[in-house]
Amino acid sequence: MQTSVKVWPRKLGKINEMIYGHFTEHLGRCIYDGIYNEKSPKSDSRGFRKDIVEAIKRIKCPILRWPGGNFVSAYHWEDGIGPLEKRPQLPNYIWGGVESNRFGTDEFIQYCREIDTEPYLAVSLGTATLDEAISWLEYCNLDTPTKYSRMRKENGHPEPYGVKYWGIGNEVYGPWQVGHCSAAEYAEKLRQYTQFMKGVDRSIKVIAVGADDPNWDLTVLKHAGHLIDYISIHEYHGSDDYLGTVASVYYCEQRLRLLEALIKHLRLDHVKISFDEWNVWYKISAEKEGMDKGIVLLEEPYALKDGLFAAGIFVVMHRMADTVQMANLAQMVNALGMIKTKGDEMVLTPIYHAFDLFVNHTGRTRLNMAVDCDTYDINTRTFVEGRNSFKLNGVPYVDGSATYDEEKQVLSVALINYYQREEEVRLDLSGIEVKKRAVLNVLTGSAPDEMNDFDNPDRIRVQKKVLDNCSTEMFLKLDPMSANVIEFSL
Ligand code: AHR
Repeated sequence: MQTSVKVWPRKLGKINEMIYGHFTEHLGRCIYDGIYNEKSPKSDSRGFRKDIVEAIKRIKCPILRWPGGNFVSAYHWEDGIGPLEKRPQLPNYIWGGVESNRFGTDEFIQYCREIDTEPYLAVSLGTATLDEAISWLEYCNLDTPTKYSRMRKENGHPEPYGVKYWGIGNEVYGPWQVGHCSAAEYAEKLRQYTQFMKGVDRSIKVIAVGADDPNWDLTVLKHAGHLIDYISIHEYHGSDDYLGTVASVYYCEQRLRLLEALIKHLRLDHVKISFDEWNVWYKISAEKEGMDKGIVLLEEPYALKDGLFAAGIFVVMHRMADTVQMANLAQMVNALGMIKTKGDEMVLTPIYHAFDLFVNHTGRTRLNMAVDCDTYDINTRTFVEGRNSFKLNGVPYVDGSATYDEEKQVLSVALINYYQREEEVRLDLSGIEVKKRAVLNVLTGSAPDEMNDFDNPDRIRVQKKVLDNCSTEMFLKLDPMSANVIEFSL
């Protein structure tokens, strides 16, 4: 079948830029020896790696989730504030190694200011209490002459931080989580935490723990849906099999659509989905690295196929823009990181470049688009130890989205060619007047497993080509295994 793509000029709504968010956890070398390293000549006086800051600014991180992940469930925020020399050194109870607490709330907020992003804090439902969640909120957001607000001022931060996004717990549906509980128990905790926290600061937005389980999600939404703002979902996929990896994009879409259907069924239109943790993760497991070996690093290597997976996730989030209004790649640096460091060097993986492609070359207004192409069926084993196996029929070889940048007056057509061969696409833009010259931005490589490494950090990145003689009907040849964004000036 000839692959054909049709774009209509009709605007379907806005894409929330918060879908391009990130996540940093006290896990391996994500924070220490990652974004924060007081000893590196690449760092500023606060210990923030400047090369990483610059790289993050280039992809305009809109929101940053912290401090976990699983880590948060055994975290007490007060350990991470005040004079550095007084902060306790503790075991990192979740991932091994020592937690020095040198990077705490004040450092995190300064980091967010530095990269110009909204902070998103997750509170612990493991070893911490409701009291601690409230005092953390007071420390961050209140300007009252009260204990924790004063404490922030005494620590040198007179102005409240105004942290808007608060997650209540992390993955408490799983037996691996400190604070594991039933859906009903979680739903009641969520109700109490949200009611109390919003009572202290009404301006906050609350993110609930959702699971890849409709029974959990229904219980949570029915009990506390009227109080919360977002429900989260976590998905990790991938395998050594190329199609297995890229097809998992459509498994994620299925799960997101199921959650969307539950929200609609309960008529909770104000509740949006936060795709709070998503990434490729199958090569390196915490179990294999082992707590008994001291520390879990999870430095998963990322290749071209993983960059295409990320591009595919962005297309899905464009399609579901009405409901999916926040997402955080797990994670930013080293541990499951889209950026890797070795000493003072840094490598940007294909996943980072997929962010570059979509953040910098697509618009925030969604247009109507249809793709007609051949499909395949797949039965695959993914994730660490094959835990997320799935079967899918009708997976497309080509997918994409159309967006419009109101300010620049640019139409962006994103097209992913998942075929391992070149594919010709007929692009129908009838009804849209485009200028003859367009720019094609392409992310591709020569093999699914091709990577950027410290010897050759620029092998895979977004390349630009000029397209001449563009018209309302055109034929484009897409490179094998490529994510493309064509920018048409109107
Ligand atoms: O991102 C790594 C871990 O994956 C997070 O700590 C946890 O939330 C998830 O299971």
